[in-house]
Amino acid sequence: MIEFRGVGLTYPGPPPVTAFRPCELTINRGDFVTVVGPSGSGKSTFLNIAGLLDAPTTGSYLLDGIDTGALKDSERTALRGRRIGFVFQSFHLMQHRSARENVALAMLYGAAPRADRVRRADEALRRVGLAHRLDALPSRMSGGERQRVAIARALVARPSLLLCDEPTGNLDSSNADTVLRLLEALHSDGMTVVLITHDAEVAARGVRTITIRDGVLRELRADEGDEHGRRTRADEAQESAE
Ligand SMILES: Nc1ncnc2c1ncn2[C@@H]1O[C@H](COP(=O)(O)OP(=O)(O)O)[C@@H](O)[C@H]1O
Ligand SMILES: [Mg+2]
Repeated sequence: MIEFRGVGLTYPGPPPVTAFRPCELTINRGDFVTVVGPSGSGKSTFLNIAGLLDAPTTGSYLLDGIDTGALKDSERTALRGRRIGFVFQSFHLMQHRSARENVALAMLYGAAPRADRVRRADEALRRVGLAHRLDALPSRMSGGERQRVAIARALVARPSLLLCDEPTGNLDSSNADTVLRLLEALHSDGMTVVLITHDAEVAARGVRTITIRDGVLRELRADEGDEHGRRTRADEAQESAE
């Protein structure tokens, strides 16, 4: 689904900053990948490239086999809208609109009539466990509920890839767990999920874990550690988060 061939990104500056070093990476349909690293290591840069928000300055990025470097801006935008859902640390909800309106308004650029949009918004909100909160305002919701509205909004366009940048960063551990369980359930239903975090415990919930340090991406292998004192994947995730 995601294929990086020598993909890297240097911000032009001055001075130029190489935020993401050229790397090879394949993420398959249905993967659940966590990406862990300290602040400033290049995690958001990676997510912005994968999400077609930023174009790499070297290499090529294939999304579902499409060479995204060959696309016009309008084509990149259309591809992003069709295939990719985003979830961010701060929920970016409209405070004076209900959960339903927040989700339904995400489809304004589509041609669907209002009744269809509302039906699909309600369906997405049911999927995230908020069937009883359709008319609630974000200001009356817990952080976990707000993030679930944001996830419903990301799902309503039926993307095949969900990119989450520190989705639990503003949540207490109980709300964070609810959100992580939801992402795990979406993964079980076939969604490809990429989750960025600086928290090793969160990173450990991925089926695959990638670390980023100083812009260098590296995959942690499940078989790297053992019971005889060699480093485990969890240890490595912990170190990478520090
Ligand atoms: N638009 C930009 N221009 C120049 N440097 C940037 C820009 N965005 C991010 N950076 C730099 O790139 C590096 C990686 O940033 P980022 O991907 O946001 O890290 P993270 O998400 O892991 O905290 C940092 O050194 C940051 O200062
Ligand atoms: Mg970031």
